[in-house]
Amino acid sequence: MTPTQQAHEPRAVAQRFASFGASIFAEMTRLAVHHGAVNLAQGFPDFDGPDFIRDAAMQAMREGHNQYCQLAGIPPLTHALADAWSARTGQRRDPSTEVTVTAGCTEALAATFLGLINPGDEVILFDPSYDSYPAYAQMAGATVRWVPLRPPAPGAPDDAPFTFDEGDLRRAFTDRTKAILINTPHNPTGKVFSRDELALIASLCARHNAIAITDEVYERLTFDPALPHISPATIPGLEDRTVALSSLGKTFSFTGWKIGWAIAPRRLTEGLRAAHQHLIFCVATPFQHAAAAAIRAAEQYQPTLNAEYRERRDFLRAALQRLGFRVFATPGTYFVYADHSPFGFPDDVAFCKHLTENVKVAALPPSVLYHDKAEGLRMARFAFCKRMPTLQEGVRRLEAGLRAGS
Ligand SMILES: Cc1ncc(COP(=O)(O)O)c(C=O)c1O
Repeated sequence: MTPTQQAHEPRAVAQRFASFGASIFAEMTRLAVHHGAVNLAQGFPDFDGPDFIRDAAMQAMREGHNQYCQLAGIPPLTHALADAWSARTGQRRDPSTEVTVTAGCTEALAATFLGLINPGDEVILFDPSYDSYPAYAQMAGATVRWVPLRPPAPGAPDDAPFTFDEGDLRRAFTDRTKAILINTPHNPTGKVFSRDELALIASLCARHNAIAITDEVYERLTFDPALPHISPATIPGLEDRTVALSSLGKTFSFTGWKIGWAIAPRRLTEGLRAAHQHLIFCVATPFQHAAAAAIRAAEQYQPTLNAEYRERRDFLRAALQRLGFRVFATPGTYFVYADHSPFGFPDDVAFCKHLTENVKVAALPPSVLYHDKAEGLRMARFAFCKRMPTLQEGVRRLEAGLRAGS
């Protein structure tokens, strides 16, 4: 096809996706590779997860676990998930009717939105938020009501959290609210929702008969003993109205395996399974066997991982502070969120492009994750899910190439 013909071809993208561009995560990784930059933009580890999990996947393949499995997932994994959920929350969920294995948290989100939300419903999202949420709301025909997450005021202590205004949240709930999405620990800000915040959300959900969809993919990545991860489903009022979603990728450093899950009361599970059945039906069988081994070992494995990540977080935070960034608290996730204003760039994209092309370090420009783009223009997100030498090289380049006021 000639370029002229191409110019006259109508765009093939369906209207429901027309307002959503290509994923910024993939785009920044492409730029990072092109410029030979240390990639602190996309949140995937540059190392593999533990050998025992890889071995379990290979063993499952050798033992012939290579065909379709049950829609809900293989029993060894659904049982392991139900047991882990019970140990962490004190709640028993029936593995056969209340636990569903999905293709990463991404498909769990899709199945939840498509299986439980009707056209005309309203869904509350915090701003900023992971870019798939508004896309799934749109696919489901729902309207999004946004609640801003505000950075701490200038001069606030280093550990001051991002917060939302109670009035904004109350106003977002209406008689059409079907669901609120709570992502804790929160990407991109690193915020961990407090018990008081969750209790307020719970009371509003109960009053408006809304469900909570919780994205807890960073549930095991918290670093501040005063701010542990709290599964929203454990808050009174939310126990029977929460669809809790998570996945293996972040905690076990196998993001490419895309094993996730949804844990929810039976009536909610029925809805999300109705969609899951027609989205993918079932998830890669051998990786589910490996995931079962991982979940069973999570409590032993977690402290080592957390200690390593805490060291990397502290290293990167200290370096960014020394360089002149305003660095926000990082109680959770594997991202450091920072204000790049001292470097004098007009916006986050200009700053991150300069960083990638000239300093050879890629960071994520987060305005794309904001509904109110202006709020994200002065921010940049740096991933620390990297080997220490990678972070050291990134910091070396930043120190050599970036000066406040440049
Ligand atoms: C908040 C959040 N939710 C969901 C996902 C996707 O998870 P998965 O890879 O398990 O689909 C990510 C990945 O970056 C994320 O940051």
